[in-house]
Order: sequence, then structure tokens, then C-alpha cells
Amino acid sequence: MTAPLRPSQLRLGVNIDHVATIRNARGGDHPDPVRAAEIVASVGGDGITAHLREDRRHIRDEDLARIQEATDLPLNLEMAATEEMLAIALRHKPHAACIVPEKREERTTEGGLDAAGQHNHLQRFVSTLNDSGIRTSLFIEASERQLDAAIRLGAPVVEFHTGEYAHAFLDDDSERVASEVKRIADMAALAAKNGIEPHAGHGLTFENVQPIAAIPQIAELNIGHYLVGEAVFVGLESAVRRMRELMDEAR
Ligand code: PXP
Repeated sequence: MTAPLRPSQLRLGVNIDHVATIRNARGGDHPDPVRAAEIVASVGGDGITAHLREDRRHIRDEDLARIQEATDLPLNLEMAATEEMLAIALRHKPHAACIVPEKREERTTEGGLDAAGQHNHLQRFVSTLNDSGIRTSLFIEASERQLDAAIRLGAPVVEFHTGEYAHAFLDDDSERVASEVKRIADMAALAAKNGIEPHAGHGLTFENVQPIAAIPQIAELNIGHYLVGEAVFVGLESAVRRMRELMDEAR
């Protein structure tokens, strides 16, 4: 194995959910997301992100403790704001918890959390996670309304949903790409001004990561599906390295 990557100002959290998706397709133990976490750690990734969904379609409860035991990397648990997930978060005490909206029928997390509309429901989750020392993040659209709600909720971190940006990129629509980058950059600056650490993620690839990585206030990107897909062709180590190179180049 080659030397780890040097530390960067912009952290890369690797979402290993889809290693578990492949494992679960056959119902056995292979490929093991824990092995993926170990590879991410060995190559200098900054964190492991895992979404324990209500339907357990990829990550399972027992994976969380196994990931925590296998590496020293911080675990970012993506979770819906439910009593069940709160109890699991409090039991496992991950470094961070990112509250995401969750609908059973969706294929992936298709939009941001309505932090503004669900303020009253979310308050206890954010406060309880904060009080237990878990760094709480809200996965929101880059809008002033949602950011304002995150500020009022006392979230130390927000993660901006880059799905619209990724779609604009796929459509090759340069005007929409530019306006999405501006929207995310403006909200990242506003978040930082208010003492909130901005992160970003969803749909990021080798082709589209750099304009988002170049936003100076963004402290972390969480990337999963594309990296696991690339790993099929070039290996996870190589895919993570390339992503980090592209992120570092953009800074
Ligand atoms: N961040 C959050 C909060 C997510 O829910 C996800 C997965 O939907 C990601 C990042 C990673 O997205 P992707 O798998 O498209 O890279």
C-alpha cells in the first residue's frame, strides 16, 4: 500500500453505504463495508459516513459498532429524526450525526431536510445530540430559509444538498451550474459568518467536484455512490486518492 495522503483543509468523508448494498444483494458478508472503512483510513480519507436507514437496505445496526472498532476515523452517522435512530445514535456515540429526511419509497436522499417547516419536531433531536457531545449536522438545501432554521435550532454544522447542482451538471446546463454554485457558495459564506461549519454532498463525482471543493468555507464533502461505483473499476484506494487530489487541486 502506498503512503497516506497529506492532510487537507477540506475533509473527505467517504460514504460506504453502497458497499453494504452490494453485500446485501446476496445476503452474505461480502463485500464488507468495514473493509472499505479500513481502506479509506489507510489512504488518508478523513471520515466514514454511513446512513442507517429505517428499512436497513444497506448499512445494518451491527455494522456501526464494527466500523467504529475497525478504524479511528470519525464516524458520521446519517439518520432520520426518529426516536429509534436517536436511541441508536446515543448508544453508539458517533463523532457526528447528520439528520436527513427519509422516505421509504425514495432511492436516495432526494432533497434537503425541511428544517424550517419541522423546527419544533427537530429541536429536541438537535439539542439531545448536541448535549451528548455528538456534532450535529442538518442536511439542507442551500437556502436562507433553511439556514436560518438551522441557526435557530443550534446546529453547529449544516450539509448542503448538492443534488440540484449535480443534475445541472449532468444536463450540461452551464447557466444552472453557475447559479447552483453561487447559491451554495453564498449560503456557505453566510453559514460561516454565523459560526456554522458548512459541508456539502450528494451526487459529487470526479467531473463535478471541483467547483464545490473550491468554495473556501466548505470544510467537508461527503461522497459515496460515485466512489463505490468507481471502486468497481479502479479499486477503492485509487478512487479515494483521485477524489482527494481533485479536491486539493480545487483549493
Ligand atoms: N451526504 C448525505 C447527507 C447523504 O444522505 C448522502 C447520500 O445520499 C451523501 C452525502 C452522499 O451522496 P452520494 O452517494 O450521492 O455521493
